Amino acid sequence: MNAFLELPEAKVLLDPGDLAPFLQDESHLRGVLPLAVVKPHGPRALRELVSRAKSEGFGLVPRGAGTGKAGGCLPTGRSVVVDFSEWPGEIQVSPQDLCLSAPASAPLREVKAAAEAQGFFYPPDPNSWESCALGGTLATNAGGPNACKYGMTRHWVLAVDALLEDGEVHTFGISSVKANAGPNLGQLLIGSEGLFGFIVGATLRLTPLPREFATLLLPVKRWEDLLDLPGRLCGAGYLPSAFEFFDPAVLAELRAHGPEEARRLPGEALAILEFDERGCTSEPFLEGLLDLLGPLADGLEIASDARQRQGIWAVRRMTSAFLKERHPKKVSEDIVVPRSRLREFFTGLDRLGIPAVTYGHLGDGNLHVNLLAAGEAEPTQLEQQLMDLFRLALSLGGTLSGEHGIGLAKRKAFLALADPAQLRALRAIKQALDPQNIFNPGKVL
Ligand code: LAC
Ligand code: ZN
Repeated sequence: MNAFLELPEAKVLLDPGDLAPFLQDESHLRGVLPLAVVKPHGPRALRELVSRAKSEGFGLVPRGAGTGKAGGCLPTGRSVVVDFSEWPGEIQVSPQDLCLSAPASAPLREVKAAAEAQGFFYPPDPNSWESCALGGTLATNAGGPNACKYGMTRHWVLAVDALLEDGEVHTFGISSVKANAGPNLGQLLIGSEGLFGFIVGATLRLTPLPREFATLLLPVKRWEDLLDLPGRLCGAGYLPSAFEFFDPAVLAELRAHGPEEARRLPGEALAILEFDERGCTSEPFLEGLLDLLGPLADGLEIASDARQRQGIWAVRRMTSAFLKERHPKKVSEDIVVPRSRLREFFTGLDRLGIPAVTYGHLGDGNLHVNLLAAGEAEPTQLEQQLMDLFRLALSLGGTLSGEHGIGLAKRKAFLALADPAQLRALRAIKQALDPQNIFNPGKVL
């Protein structure tokens, strides 16, 4: 009998047919067949897995719902996939402490709904929020449109429960925003893509639920006019909870082949702006805003009810899947430049002659640069284009990933472009926390 079947407190998959779905995530990459997929149901399974990984020399690859964009959960080399989808635990909201605790297996949509049911808001909203697992969002420090105002996943984590290389689950952090007893190991684990240990649960910070929304559809006459707008809005004291955009090429695709709502959209390019503070639907607020937006607009619309708001967001939320369906071999990036450098970025992109279309999170400078014809390009040419793109972002004070992480997809570029002191420090931390390199080997570093 296969020794994995003897693991306590676990479900084990061994059949190649059952393993096949685990070779993919939402990146363009594929993993190799793992030795097994293990769905742990308790601490004994984790203890045993760690012990066997060390003695038998295989890697452990963490997996949530497989919605990552960087290949971080794909098996490589000799490894076992540790799928946390059946990890036990309940979502528990604590109104007095303004926090919520949940297991890694909790679907993010249920986490957000549990908070909302009690009048609270958990802001992180990656595009996959309806299908991803909390654990994956923690391991990758997921972003999303709301990061524009509310920050990333890490800004909402108070405490982390994590499996470390001793085979035990440890908790770092407490149910309060104030916890300063030494450097923060919990925050080190958030966004570490499973390099230092596996997150099995967390305590998350909540905030009162916004109840008023001004959602604006802003088609612009001239695409260039959009590029200074995020900085101008912030400078004028307006902080949108989301500021998304489609460049002319993406808008044209949506208009020609997208859903009904997209076909009627005017403008050369389009932005979606949302505000959620109290008073944002009042006349004085909107008048001030329209003074700024009016001159650029080509038929501004303000959603007047929840249905219209959802309609606007539905078009934005389907964009990634829509482009993937039309261009199955596209490569999608997620560079960032500071808001104040957006115009320079697009000028630089034109100068480089990279055949890319862009959409995404203009309000925080996080741009999804899509190379739609990546499948037809020579691999070396594609690599060169991506390196040029990353160097451009870095030269403007930006970064090569705003929200999707490094994983496998950007590993080579990360190793080539990161500050050597950063790489040395990260490798030393890896060595200290995982001396036998059992946790997600071959990723990031
Ligand atoms: C989005 C994903 C790709 O924003 O991050 O659509
Ligand atoms: Zn995004």
